[in-house]
Amino acid sequence: MSTFVELVEKRRSIYALGTNSEYSKKDIENRIREVVKQVPTAFNSQTTRVVVLFDEAKNKFWDHIYDVQKNILEGGMQEWMSGVVTGAKNGIGTVLFFEDLDAAKQMPTQGARTEAYKQNNNANAQYAVWLALAEMDLGASLQHFNVGYEQGFDKATREMFNLPETYEMIAQMPFGSIEQDIDEKEHIDTDVQVKVFS
Ligand SMILES: Cc1cc2nc3c(=O)[nH]c(=O)nc-3n(C[C@H](O)[C@H](O)[C@H](O)COP(=O)(O)O)c2cc1C
Repeated sequence: MSTFVELVEKRRSIYALGTNSEYSKKDIENRIREVVKQVPTAFNSQTTRVVVLFDEAKNKFWDHIYDVQKNILEGGMQEWMSGVVTGAKNGIGTVLFFEDLDAAKQMPTQGARTEAYKQNNNANAQYAVWLALAEMDLGASLQHFNVGYEQGFDKATREMFNLPETYEMIAQMPFGSIEQDIDEKEHIDTDVQVKVFS
């Protein structure tokens, strides 16, 4: 049993994924459900929607991303994208993070503040799920193969999984067993990040 700080340290971006886990798909689904349920949201608005893809659903999603991106990206970017997609397909699953625009409209805010709260709500869920996966010894990364409801992969993804029209995709999190070495990460001075007064 690790402490919370150990868990925070354990979570890293992992791209080389596999399917070697002691946890079943149902275990993972249940853990994600428990965690997302408890994530704080502005005004308790609960605007975040999470879609967990396993098996063929996961492959279908990533094949679509690859097919579209391969015609857009060039050189090094295409190679990088191809590596991310291969890693994701080799893994156990992918969590898609959405915001429900109808639910977001119910917040007693407008414009930039609604947008900020929506993004913050979603980010809280992303980090919580990332930590939950790390606790289960699963590696994950955070991807943004779309930005914005109007462009990107939102429409195709909604159609693929019959999701409501109001779902705006914010991020994708492929996960699986950790099949790579983990590099040391550079950290800036904590005194720059954190200041204390009394
Ligand atoms: C808001 C945010 C956006 C990110 N977007 C991407 C992304 O699109 N693709 C990617 O590979 N990693 C992405 N990352 C992962 C970061 O690059 C990574 O967390 C950072 O380099 C620190 O490494 P670590 O996750 O191993 O601690 C993102 C992370 C955050 C917090």
